[in-house]
Amino acid sequence: AEVVIVPDAQSAGDLVADEIASLIRADPEVVLGLATGSTPVPVYEALRPRLRGVDVSRVRGFALDEYVGIDPSHPQSYRNVILREVVEPLGLDPERIRTPDGALATIEHAGADYERAIAAAGGIELQILGIGTDGHIGFNEPGSSFASSTRVKTLTEQTRNDNARFFDTVDQVPMHCITQGLGTILRARHLVLLAFGEGKAAAVAGALEGPVTASLPGSAIQLHPRVSVVVDESAASQLR
Ligand code: F6R
Repeated sequence: AEVVIVPDAQSAGDLVADEIASLIRADPEVVLGLATGSTPVPVYEALRPRLRGVDVSRVRGFALDEYVGIDPSHPQSYRNVILREVVEPLGLDPERIRTPDGALATIEHAGADYERAIAAAGGIELQILGIGTDGHIGFNEPGSSFASSTRVKTLTEQTRNDNARFFDTVDQVPMHCITQGLGTILRARHLVLLAFGEGKAAAVAGALEGPVTASLPGSAIQLHPRVSVVVDESAASQLR
């Protein structure tokens, strides 16, 4: 992997936004892989000025994951997060930006539907990734198969605690999610993993330099030929 250590999250946002903006200029129908959570926010913010005057009406996107069984009107459903933080500020077409469907009624085929949609779009050009403190990418928690495709997973206690900050109490964090699999993520043509802060240092070191193991799902990136890792000093602090 190419590892870039930047002074702060904003510099990371600038760097990755430059790359994404040039992809969009080169191919107005480019297929982006989007992440939610705190990490990619500086990328989306930095994209906004860069896309002024650029035709983004045909850009396509696939989010990594969604909570299962969350009310669609809940502000923390990843569909709503993506609409609020990405689609609306950047002026994208909401119909071209998909999130896995976490509705209980259709959950049995939601994973296969999502995989078909990604394949029909020609695959993901650039996938933005954060990493969990437990080493997850997407919501592929420890123990996930490297060949996995989009499916339902159970969130670990650690992830639910980490994400409690987005809800009133930890009990309100859903138990389950539907996430692109490690196999899905590995099919994207360029992976861009971002991480900021001391809390991510162990996961980043494990993902980049530890054994390739399902116990640390982020280590799957070592199997990919084109990975960029953009981290601040604290998140890089356990790299050798
Ligand atoms: C989000 C996702 C997760 C997050 C990870 C880090 O779509 O798939 O893997 O990237 O949990 O979350 P933050 O960025 O909030 O620290």
